[in-house]
Amino acid sequence: MNILAIESSCDETSAAVLSNGKIYSNVVATQLIHTQYGGVVPELASRAHQQHILPVVDKALNYAKVTKKDLHAIAFTKGPGLLGALLVGTSFAKSMALGLGLPLIEVNHMQAHVLAHFIQDPKPEFPFLCLTVSGGHTQIVKVNSPLDMEIIGQTRDDAVGEAFDKTAKLLDLPYPGGPLIDKYAKTGNPLAYGFPLPEMPGLDFSFSGIKTSFMYFLQKQVRENPNFIQENIEDICASIQYTLVNILLKKLKKAAKETGIKEIAIAGGVSANSGLRTSLLELGEKLNWKVYIPDFEYCTDNAAMIAMAAHYKFLENDFCDQTVSPMARMEF
Ligand code: KG4
Ligand code: ZN
Repeated sequence: MNILAIESSCDETSAAVLSNGKIYSNVVATQLIHTQYGGVVPELASRAHQQHILPVVDKALNYAKVTKKDLHAIAFTKGPGLLGALLVGTSFAKSMALGLGLPLIEVNHMQAHVLAHFIQDPKPEFPFLCLTVSGGHTQIVKVNSPLDMEIIGQTRDDAVGEAFDKTAKLLDLPYPGGPLIDKYAKTGNPLAYGFPLPEMPGLDFSFSGIKTSFMYFLQKQVRENPNFIQENIEDICASIQYTLVNILLKKLKKAAKETGIKEIAIAGGVSANSGLRTSLLELGEKLNWKVYIPDFEYCTDNAAMIAMAAHYKFLENDFCDQTVSPMARMEF
């Protein structure tokens, strides 16, 4: 059983081929055009998807040594994401399915981030908790089975990836700033500057207040010393990263305690963060958790995770028809 999957929700055009539950190719074209604008420009993202989609799909089929005739289904990201970007992948998948007479499978991008854990071994056992952290989302998900997930906590305002990226912008770092904060943090002192953690009831998160307190802190320091950022970039990044990681882990700890679940996973772009990965492993060791962290290539947006989600939907005969349209916002 061969599935071609397409991902185009934000600024990565990706295609992957899965055969009998195994990934045989995962091609990702990153759109560098957004760097100069300090964030993703939706219109430019849609145009770049238009340029990339055909060569990316061709490469994915070639690497997997699968021809169009060998395919059994076409999967695509329905949402959440940028509407114009999603439209490119959705229209492409619909046209290809129609042309080849194949069934179509719609996939929820956030569910796919969680299911990236089923691409490689070891795989988490059900039920498990997944902290899904990306540029647009921050969620704690209770995963009962591949297609049965509940969001038990989520951000009430900004996503943690956004907090990383917007703070990086204040530090004059290019988009996406998350990986650069991570890079500078490696040689900095995480306790150099302290920030108050937000008080949020239950398992929900908030990042807008902490983002503002980073901004006020930097403005004050720069008023006193115009070179403050350049002179202290490592310590600043380490302290910011330490604060954001602490906010995430505090809630994850609470969720594990409340549910009694000790199978703990992370997913999404921010799960590539080395501070989060190390601290989670340490916490897991202390609390006797089994921790699951995807390989870097399956943390950020990729079509392999869409293909994995589609695999489970295929097994359930969960197909959609040609009237399907993308959704910028959607829950599970
Ligand atoms: O999942 P993803 O690729 O796209 C969305 O679905 O949003 O996540 C992108 C986010 C961006 O905010 C980016 O800065 C962040 O993931 N990110 C990181 C790291 N790598 C990617 N944040 C912190 N540290 C990293 N190493
Ligand atoms: Zn994503």
